[in-house]
Amino acid sequence: MSLPLRVKLVDVGPRDGLQNEKQPVPAAVKIELVQRLQEAGLKEIEVASFVSPKWVPQMADAAEVMHGIRRRPGVRYSVLTPNMKGFEAAIAAPRAEWPDEIVVFGAASEAFSQRNINCSIAESIERFRPVVAAARANGIHVRGAMSCTVGCPYEGEIAPERVGMLAGLMKGIGVQRVDVADTIGVGTPRKVRRALEATLKHFDIDDVSGHFHDTYGQALANTLAALEMGVWNFQSSVAGLGGCPFAKGATGNVASEDVVYLLQGLDIATGIDLDKLVDAGQFISQQLQRKPNSRAATAILSKRGG
Ligand code: HMG
Ligand code: MG
Repeated sequence: MSLPLRVKLVDVGPRDGLQNEKQPVPAAVKIELVQRLQEAGLKEIEVASFVSPKWVPQMADAAEVMHGIRRRPGVRYSVLTPNMKGFEAAIAAPRAEWPDEIVVFGAASEAFSQRNINCSIAESIERFRPVVAAARANGIHVRGAMSCTVGCPYEGEIAPERVGMLAGLMKGIGVQRVDVADTIGVGTPRKVRRALEATLKHFDIDDVSGHFHDTYGQALANTLAALEMGVWNFQSSVAGLGGCPFAKGATGNVASEDVVYLLQGLDIATGIDLDKLVDAGQFISQQLQRKPNSRAATAILSKRGG
């Protein structure tokens, strides 16, 4: 089976990566992280979330971070907006500071939808509908994140039909592309393939991305399975940062460094400089006083040191 010739990575480190950190991370550090990611060649960066600061205190400075980043032409900056309040906050700044893309985020699991965004799946779609319409009317691209597409911390295994149903609902309200997320990192290639197949009934292959957390160490295997299906958009997190406050026990996203190492080995172009990416991961890990949670970064750093 032929693999894609190129892959586009969205680094979700500043958002998914940091949202679960208990210690406050200053806006200046988040801004510097975005800077280092774009210097490493990332063309898409998920910068922040406009969500309730009571629910996710770490993201309370989203506007400050969006104001502070130094934008590069050709880079797409995205933010999460779960409702109109979040969308209005995201575009309260001058137009030059608007996100290029907003992300509405739903779940294939009812229980997770309730825990994460305090409403049912059906209600979430009704909340997203005006957000999607307003974003598109303002020339802002819309992505839909679909959580718990293989497993849910509260409901267990999730059937692919439920993923297909959510993808259809997202498509119906005008979402332009979707992320198939294994929020708690329980997926294995066959299950992930089924979730992707269900999504591909509603979205073109170019508009489907893989978003794999690495709790059980399966994220790279799942990435390869998705590549074999022709998927060429993925989300990953520098230094393997992350987790969701509403998915207890789930670890970070697959590390961007590990994905880039895999892709380089497969001769798939990413436009990303792995050494600079490792530097970015080291920067944020030092800020958080820990080592990067990436096998490739650890290997590269130890080689440099020795
Ligand atoms: P709610 O309680 O249903 O909302 O929360 P509400 O409309 O009833 O408002 C309640 C309070 O929240 C009010 O404030 C609102 O003003 C405020 P109060 O009067 O109590 O002071 N509020 C907001 N404040 C700021 N920004 C907003 C906003 N909306 C309401 N946008 C809501 C609904 C979605 C806001 C809440 O449940 C929430 O913020 N949840 C956080 C969800 C979140 O950020 N989860 C993590 C990201 S998703 C994820 O990580 C998964 C992903 O990576 C993919 C994967 O791996 O699966 C994307
Ligand atoms: Mg996630």
